[in-house]
Amino acid sequence: MKKSFPNIRMRRLRSTSGIRKLVRETNLCGSDLIQPIFITEGKNKIQKISSMPGINRYSIDMAVKEIRVLTKNGIGAVALFPQINRRKKSNQASEAYNDDGLIQRAIREIKKKVPKSTIISDVALDPYTTHGQDGILSKKGKILNDETVEVLTKQALSHAKSGADIIAPSDMMDGRVLKIREILERNKFVDTMILAYSAKYSSNFYGPFRDAVGSIKSLGTKSKDSYQMDYANTGDALREVELDINEGADFVMIKPGLPYLDIVQRIKEKLNIPIFVYQVSGEYSMMKAVSQKGWLNEKKIVMETLACIKRAGATAIITYYAKEALKWMK
Ligand code: PBG
Repeated sequence: MKKSFPNIRMRRLRSTSGIRKLVRETNLCGSDLIQPIFITEGKNKIQKISSMPGINRYSIDMAVKEIRVLTKNGIGAVALFPQINRRKKSNQASEAYNDDGLIQRAIREIKKKVPKSTIISDVALDPYTTHGQDGILSKKGKILNDETVEVLTKQALSHAKSGADIIAPSDMMDGRVLKIREILERNKFVDTMILAYSAKYSSNFYGPFRDAVGSIKSLGTKSKDSYQMDYANTGDALREVELDINEGADFVMIKPGLPYLDIVQRIKEKLNIPIFVYQVSGEYSMMKAVSQKGWLNEKKIVMETLACIKRAGATAIITYYAKEALKWMK
């Protein structure tokens, strides 16, 4: 073996903060971050979400204010999620493509008042179904793929008409990206982008989100295992991403974040497309809880996770910490 020491001293490049910055491989910036925003009916409303301290549901007018500030501070985009009134839910989820629905109104209002904002709108049926699943159920309780995709395309078109920049199908039905791309093209929305939740795992880290959009009670003890991916697999993720690229996705999403960075890295190595990573609600709540206990330093652990997600290959990160991270980076 060649004698490397003392010729090589690795610590030289770690010796001062200036040198460390000079050789740093990944740098996070505000425009890499996407803030999820929960929308609810009403006026002048800000509702706390008990399982996600610090995160709120906003009525449209208050969401506009929030997004105005975020946009001014350089956020990359916002991702909208609705809490739908129980009376508007059904098995067919027809409220999802109501042109005057909550999200459609929110998109129009935000685009009007904050034209510089970039809006990602979620395409999935779970906030709109009585049973909390992302698809339409057969009488026997099976989730019907093609029937669901029909509804998703209508939902996507109504979001595009309202002015969404990016349509984000998070449902994991087969073939939905192609069908959404087709309906957008047919209706001349040739510039509307598709962010496909391609590698979305059936994860236990989504609990607080389901609380926030109000689907947790409807879902009960049922799982989403027949459409979201098995967390033991990587091969599936590669196939899903490849398919979605071929079907017309502009970017792909990997979700959850931190426990799935091996997936991010593999996709980054194999395929050439912007990768978005979702640091999900359960990840947020874990970091929040441990910080409230005083057991770890919130700012430091959050910034570390975001840097690690980027290091693994993320182009952008959806995180409930986006707003705070923007402040910390200043
Ligand atoms: C539903 C959807 C979920 C999330 C985003 N879109 C939950 C689910 O699949 O049940 C989870 C996000 C989070 O946990 O932060 N289509």
